[in-house]
Amino acid sequence: MVADLIIETRNLHKSFDTGGAVARVLRGVDLGVERGAFVAIMGPSGCGKSTLLHLLGGLDRPTSGEILLSGRRVDGLGEGAWAVIRRREVGYMFQSFNLIANMTAAENIELPALVAGVSAKEARRRRDELLAQLGITSTASLTPGEVSGGQQQRIALARALVNEPAILLADEPTGNLDSASTREVLAMLRERHGRGQTLVLVTHDPNVAAAADRVVHMIDGRIESAVRDGPAPADAAATPGPAP
Ligand SMILES: Nc1ncnc2c1ncn2[C@@H]1O[C@H](COP(=O)(O)OP(=O)(O)OP(=O)(O)O)[C@@H](O)[C@H]1O
Ligand SMILES: [Mg+2]
Repeated sequence: MVADLIIETRNLHKSFDTGGAVARVLRGVDLGVERGAFVAIMGPSGCGKSTLLHLLGGLDRPTSGEILLSGRRVDGLGEGAWAVIRRREVGYMFQSFNLIANMTAAENIELPALVAGVSAKEARRRRDELLAQLGITSTASLTPGEVSGGQQQRIALARALVNEPAILLADEPTGNLDSASTREVLAMLRERHGRGQTLVLVTHDPNVAAAADRVVHMIDGRIESAVRDGPAPADAAATPGPAP
C-alpha cells in the first residue's frame, strides 16, 4: 500500500550565503509525513529544525530539492500561492511568535480567519474557543507586550489554529510553558490530532515527543533516525528506535 503523505520532502537542501561563507544548513532531508500523523522533530540547537519548518510552511525557499503537499509540488510556488496555502491548509506557529505588537491577543488570533474570509461572528467564536482551550481568556484585550512569554506563545498557537488547518506546523509550541500549561496545550493538540489534524511540532521537550506517534531526529541538517509506530520513549532523544 502506498502511504498517503500529506507532506513529503525529497533531498531538500538549504544553504545561506553569510557574507562570503556558505552555510549548508539542510543537507538532503527526506521526510514523509502521513496524513493525520503527529510528528515531533527533535535535535540539537542549530541543526536546522526551524529552517526545515520554514521551508515546509513556504516562509523560505529551498536551495534545491522538492517539497510536496498532498502530492503536489509546492517548492517552486511564489509568495501569493503560498499565502493561499497558509490561509487554507497550513497553520504556522513561529519560534519567535511574530505577534502583531499593536493588536490585542483577540485581534491577533482573529486576523487570519478574517483574511481568509470567515465571517466576523465565526472568527469570534473560534477565537473565544481557542482562548478558553488554551487557558488565556484573560489576555484577550491585552497586547503582546502586556502578557507573559508563555501567554504570547499560546496566543501564537491559537492564531496558527484559527483557520482549522489540515496541517499545523509549530516551532517549539511549549518552549516557554510550565508543566501544567504544557499538559493543557498537549491535551488540546491531541484532541485536534484525534479529529484528523496533522501535527508537525519542533520540540526540545521529551513530554511533547512522548505524545507524538513518531519522533524525527535531526542532526547537522539531516534526519538521523525515525522512530515509527507507537509513542516515543521519554528519552527518545538519547536512544535509537527499536528494531522493527
Ligand atoms: N537566514 C539565515 N541566514 C544565515 N544563517 C541562517 C539563517 N537562518 C538560519 N541560519 C543558520 O542555520 C543554522 C540552523 O538554524 P535553525 O534556526 O534552523 O536551527 P534550529 O535547529 O531551529 O535551532 P534551535 O533549536 O536553537 O531553534 C544555524 O547555524 C543558523 O545560524
Ligand atoms: Mg529553531
